[in-house]
Amino acid sequence: MLVLGIESSCDETGVALYCSKRGLIGNALHTQMAMHAEYGGVVPELASRDHIRRLVPLTQACLAEAGAAYGDIDAVAYTQGPGLGGALLAGASYANALAFALGKPVLPVHHLEGHLLSPLLADERPEFPFVALLVSGGHTQFMAVRGIGDYTLLGESVDDAAGEAFDKTAKLLGLPYPGGAKLSELARLGTPDAFSFPRPMLHSHDLQMSFSGLKTAVLTAVEKARAAHGGSLPNSVRNDICRAFQDAVCDVLVHKARRALLQTGYRTLVVAGGVGANWKLRAELGSLKVKTAPKAPAEAVRTFFPPLPLCTDNGAMIAFAGAMRLQHQVQAAQPAAAFNVRPRWPLDELVQTA
Ligand code: KG4
Ligand code: ZN
Repeated sequence: MLVLGIESSCDETGVALYCSKRGLIGNALHTQMAMHAEYGGVVPELASRDHIRRLVPLTQACLAEAGAAYGDIDAVAYTQGPGLGGALLAGASYANALAFALGKPVLPVHHLEGHLLSPLLADERPEFPFVALLVSGGHTQFMAVRGIGDYTLLGESVDDAAGEAFDKTAKLLGLPYPGGAKLSELARLGTPDAFSFPRPMLHSHDLQMSFSGLKTAVLTAVEKARAAHGGSLPNSVRNDICRAFQDAVCDVLVHKARRALLQTGYRTLVVAGGVGANWKLRAELGSLKVKTAPKAPAEAVRTFFPPLPLCTDNGAMIAFAGAMRLQHQVQAAQPAAAFNVRPRWPLDELVQTA
């Protein structure tokens, strides 16, 4: 079975082919980052138009990489939501049109289910049940995952997503869009504890998180540093701020991850989404231990990350999620001229299929 996956929820156009026997055999991606950089953020109308331009050539590149032809495709999976309405429509209309032309079914996929299942594309795969930390530019959520399609939301950020906080903080430090990854690289050069930022809701006794106050703390630190350095921000100070910001976000995520594992009793953690590429988060969650009581022995946790190139948005995770849904007997739909997208779509609305 060969599933073509189409991702177009935000500023990446992804097209990939997942084969139930051979795994991922084609994966083509175009990022619009450079186009949006000029505006300091994603411009939805430009994003939609660019998706339309890229989808056909990316599909051709993907088929060529896989050595496959259009006629080999058994189903077309596409991101139905959540995401930008126009960007989703570009992918959804292309997927439905292509499937209609091929006489094959379509599989509408939830973008976050794609992220959630992406660690299953690695050589070493987690087993159910597990706690998933979805940490991207749009979401920061803990989910209990008991099987394909069987998800419960345990807690989430009440305001900014962690990736959004990275990007907004990077912007106020003068880094080019999207600054999350750049900020994390500069954090490597910073001195630990030169600054200290708040850890919002760290002790809230639940799995809710808040990241929007952090950027205000960073702004205050930047203003003070500028005033002390004649109006400019020395690189060394900027790096120290990056370090302290990253430490604060990671502390909250690690603390809450431990709580989620204790609450569910699960000892497997899966980290997905763009911020899962963060080096500090990977190091800390990769060596996580939990204790059920202060004097109890520390229990090791098995942590799984998607392969680095699959952390950020891509078509592979959509093709894979589509293939998994097919394997678990979710009815594929017939392509239709009247289809819908779901820019807002809570993940735990997905029905249990396993
Ligand atoms: O999953 P993703 O590609 O798109 C969304 O669905 O949001 O995640 C993108 C987010 C951006 O906010 C980006 O700044 C962040 O992931 N990101 C990082 C790193 N690489 C990407 N944040 C922190 N450290 C990184 N290394
Ligand atoms: Zn994403």
